[in-house]
Amino acid sequence: MPSILQCIDCAQQYPIDRVIYTCAACGSLLDVAHDLSAGGGVTRSLFDDRLGALSPPYNSGVWRFKELVYPGIEDSAIVSRMEGNTNLYEQPRLAAFAGVDTLFLKHEGENPTGSFKDRGMTTGVTQANVLGMTRVACASTGNTSASMAAYAAYAGLQGIIFLQNRQIALGKLAQGVAFGATCLQVNADFDRNMELVQIVSEQLGIYLLNSVNPFRLEGQKSIIFEALQQLRWRVPDWVVVPGGNLGNSSAFGKALREMFEVGLIDRLPRLAIVQAEGANPLYRHFAGGFKRFEPVKAETIATAIKIGNPVNLRKAIRTLEWTGGVVEEVSDQQIMDAKAIIDGVGIGCEPASACSLAGARKLVENSVIRPGDSVLAVLTGHIMKDPEATIGYHTGELPGISPRLRNRIQQVDDDLQAIVRLLN
Ligand code: F0G
Repeated sequence: MPSILQCIDCAQQYPIDRVIYTCAACGSLLDVAHDLSAGGGVTRSLFDDRLGALSPPYNSGVWRFKELVYPGIEDSAIVSRMEGNTNLYEQPRLAAFAGVDTLFLKHEGENPTGSFKDRGMTTGVTQANVLGMTRVACASTGNTSASMAAYAAYAGLQGIIFLQNRQIALGKLAQGVAFGATCLQVNADFDRNMELVQIVSEQLGIYLLNSVNPFRLEGQKSIIFEALQQLRWRVPDWVVVPGGNLGNSSAFGKALREMFEVGLIDRLPRLAIVQAEGANPLYRHFAGGFKRFEPVKAETIATAIKIGNPVNLRKAIRTLEWTGGVVEEVSDQQIMDAKAIIDGVGIGCEPASACSLAGARKLVENSVIRPGDSVLAVLTGHIMKDPEATIGYHTGELPGISPRLRNRIQQVDDDLQAIVRLLN
């Protein structure tokens, strides 16, 4: 049976080639549902045998798992920049900081445009291609726009990006401009931009590539597939991920369920979603027993997750149910200290990504994660994002944040003796 689109609430189905993002019957979110009967035709060795492939599509860390991502797709329709294939680090100093014996860090900042978004864009832009769309659009705090602009340009499509005019990471804006996207700086926050891009895309027949688009999440599932493959299919006790628009959280739940269903893994890890204290709508909802959801006005130094009304809320809750998951919040101080630790061992990440380590540490302190548990934490973006926050931390110029792990930048005259004195 070919893959179909299916509502996660009322199970209404739609053909896969229909341009639709939410259920026409009940308004809820859609899954791309695959026929996984008879194990979906996959085995561990099918995927292991493709490791080291030199040619497309299997040289991509997304398309290596094609049977679980988009089984029916013609290889010639795939738009790929050999995304994925990111490293899995095991660094004892980071494990010690978290307070666990075993910590793996999957670094999604090592993707072509510097974030995990590339894994969702290869599938999203491929679907735009399949549908014959000529224009694609997204709202973004930075990474999504850079990624979409790149993949759109690569495929010969016109990218249109909606950015807030405050606090947009300069490097990300630079990528969008350089890749030739139409860049709209709108006087509104991310959540409002998200509403605007949905309305405009609908009105003008532009293909929407935010993570409300279920094809995005199919690609992002591969973060989990690849990490588990790197762990030789041994399931960690916990997976920890930052939560903003909750696309990854949603994709990870689906990935784990499907892996279990086809027999690639024999149990599910628990998922911990970590939000910034100032952008914590899911945390509040979780702490309140999921009674009534209330969006928040988001504020945090972690620009990527400055989101108050996440579009994938329903799917993220489903993931929490499936995995016995938890939600934690961390302060900007905790985020920046964890980032300084990750940066300081030579790995590095952007502020939002450091939520994973900060959150793991807090969950250990709160006795939710046990010191003997194995933890897989995802670093979502590259250290080159938000350099002002990095420099500001080390110069002690970030309001309300003390540079506990400061690396002071030294100023010295053009004076050989002074330099030698300083280094002695
Ligand atoms: N980490 C980074 C580096 C991100 O860029 C984002 C989202 C997240 C975490 C949150 O992921 O939405 O799946 O929960 N960035 C979006 C953007 C909003 O526009 O780049 P999520």
